[in-house]
Amino acid sequence: MFASCLKGNAGRVFGAETGGGRRRRGRVYHAEMTVPRPRASEAAPAPAAPAERPAGVAIAHARLRDLPGIARVQRRAFPPRLAYTLGTLLVLWALPWVRLLVARREGAIVGCVIGDRVLESGRVINLAVDPAAQRQGIGGALLLAIERSLPAGDMILMVHAGNLAARSLYRRVGYEDDTDLPDYYGPGRPGVRMRKRREAEGG
Ligand SMILES: CC(C)(COP(=O)(O)OP(=O)(O)OC[C@H]1O[C@@H](n2cnc3c(N)ncnc32)[C@H](O)[C@@H]1OP(=O)(O)O)[C@@H](O)C(=O)NCCC(=O)NCCS
Repeated sequence: MFASCLKGNAGRVFGAETGGGRRRRGRVYHAEMTVPRPRASEAAPAPAAPAERPAGVAIAHARLRDLPGIARVQRRAFPPRLAYTLGTLLVLWALPWVRLLVARREGAIVGCVIGDRVLESGRVINLAVDPAAQRQGIGGALLLAIERSLPAGDMILMVHAGNLAARSLYRRVGYEDDTDLPDYYGPGRPGVRMRKRREAEGG
């Protein structure tokens, strides 16, 4: 099964960052928010927004007490080797430059997205939606929310070349294939870096 974003259990997350501003806990991003319209001057064609907004889904910064629920979604969405553990999630949650957002519906955690700032780009570290809640627009809404929570500028992410579901979603929200990375996930397991063009601050 192909699934991971950054390879390993957050293996590359630590130590590779340049810092990315302040955590803004408590701010709630509602999935029903209007998707920001791309400016006419953007180089990439306007992305097709997800067709439907997920009803009743709220997206917010994760609280400490959310982490077990997020770990559960990780275990359900990813194969065991790739699911982020509670320990990894705790470290990521505590890093000031990392954004960890959760999607809730009727109080239950149904998805999560983790992102940070690396060099000039925002980066999606991990994205997962509970299998029972997939294909309802939650993954797309989480991606738009993590973009809003990071500074302006391009977004990048890594995806297994064979993870067609995720690649399809990323294209849908405006990412394009950028670089093929053979063996990124191990011998014979290629990755693809995808990029979404966004205007830089003041651009
Ligand atoms: C990838 C993932 C996050 C998508 O979440 P989701 O909530 O189902 O995505 P959405 O409902 O927002 O999908 C929006 C669009 O993406 C594409 N898409 C999503 N899942 C797809 C699938 N299984 N097959 C084909 N296209 C898919 C479709 O175009 C979809 O629109 P549609 O449902 O109108 O056809 C989810 O499948 C998941 O958690 N997978 C396991 C973990 C994983 O692979 N994470 C990404 C690591 S890089």
